Amino acid sequence: MRRSLGGGARLVLCLALLQLPLGYGSCPCQDLALCNPVTVTRDFEVFVFDVGRKTWKFYDWSQITTVAAFGEYDPELMCYAHSKGVRVVLKGDVPLGEIINAYVRRAWIAQQVDLAKKQFMDGINIDIEQEVNKTSPEYYALTALVEETTEAFHRAIPGSQVTFDVAWSPACIDKRCYNYSGIANASDFLFVMSYDEQSQVWTECIARANAPYNQTLAGYDDYIHMGIDPKKLVMGVPWYGYNYACLDLSKVSDAAGRQVPYRRIMKQINSSISGRLWDEGQKAPYYEYKDSLGYFHQVWYDDPQSISLKAAYGKERGLRGIGMWNGNCLDYSRGSEAEQQSEAMWQALKPE
Ligand SMILES: *[C@@H]1O[C@H](CO)[C@@H](O)[C@H](O)[C@H]1NC(C)=O
Ligand SMILES: *[C@@H]1O[C@H](CO)[C@@H](O)[C@H](O)[C@H]1NC(C)=O
Ligand SMILES: *[C@@H]1O[C@H](CO)[C@@H](O)[C@H](O)[C@H]1NC(C)=O
Ligand SMILES: *[C@@H]1O[C@H](CO)[C@@H](O)[C@H](O)[C@H]1NC(C)=O
Ligand SMILES: *[C@@H]1O[C@H](CO)[C@@H](O)[C@H](O)[C@H]1NC(C)=O
Repeated sequence: MRRSLGGGARLVLCLALLQLPLGYGSCPCQDLALCNPVTVTRDFEVFVFDVGRKTWKFYDWSQITTVAAFGEYDPELMCYAHSKGVRVVLKGDVPLGEIINAYVRRAWIAQQVDLAKKQFMDGINIDIEQEVNKTSPEYYALTALVEETTEAFHRAIPGSQVTFDVAWSPACIDKRCYNYSGIANASDFLFVMSYDEQSQVWTECIARANAPYNQTLAGYDDYIHMGIDPKKLVMGVPWYGYNYACLDLSKVSDAAGRQVPYRRIMKQINSSISGRLWDEGQKAPYYEYKDSLGYFHQVWYDDPQSISLKAAYGKERGLRGIGMWNGNCLDYSRGSEAEQQSEAMWQALKPE
């Protein structure tokens, strides 16, 4: 992509820099046009959370439409994404207690818009996973926050996108009682986090899937039944699983499980006791292994088989798209099995 600048190009570059309003960062891309916001709309969203470092270079860019940059700001990622017509959006989070005050709320929004412009970003993904009581001041402030953020971004950055992350079901999961239909209407779409569907696992080795098929689908049905247009819903799938230690029942233990990225799961599965097993009820794979201290573990995860079933449902239901937490969970090292496994995970997002 690197090109040397001739005299004419240098002049154009200087003029372009002079035209930037004061206070704006200068464009970090070789091609200055890449600092323009992305304005194309595509029918099917593929929404990728990126948590940092450089593995984004190995993503399947032919599918991606939006990258939510949850790691440190990476200008190289922004330039590259724009060269592929892909939006890059900020992460938005703020303590809800603070934004009940409309002035504070507006100031926060202005700050986000300003940051997005300085970094040549294309919107914001609001990731507020805070407890809210129904009809509390926070409840109304949150809906207002999304309405005002969307309005401000759309006005300041043409073609920009404002999205909001919601739990797998609208039934006050983890005490998040939000005005879901109001937020859906106020934003471009909701990213439904169809994972972490087990709050607690109480007994010995009877763990459950991170995102069981039926439970996942029931969540979408509930959102749709409350009047939310399927085109306002993007299905989020997990590229990680949970490792549950089998409990010694004589001990009181927190059995919430530990998150493991797909790349680590793929490294461990061949040395497991069980190999890959499939739970037909939950339509999810799992395996069992014994650790160096002799304790048994059960690992539940999602793989191309479980993900493609959910992707097919999403297509049939007419959802806006699909996405994952998070793009960096795969092993992108070249050659070998890892590369094929990662490719299969990307392919699984495409419904047949
Ligand atoms: C929700 O309401 C309950 C009962 O009134 C209260 O104890 C709790 O602190 C409230 N939670 C939040 C996040 O406001
Ligand atoms: C949807 O949003 C629009 C624009 O913000 C608003 O005028 C309308 O009242 C909203 N409808 C509902 C049902 O919330
Ligand atoms: C949700 O928000 C919308 C838009 O602000 C509003 O019209 C509606 O009454 C709210 N619904 C509930 C149940 O609070
Ligand atoms: C793991 O097992 C699969 C299927 O039995 C095999 O194809 C693959 O080569 C094995 N991978 C490693 C790293 O041993
Ligand atoms: C999942 O849903 C289908 C269709 O409603 C039902 O036939 C099946 O028994 C359910 N499976 C489980 C494990 O709940």
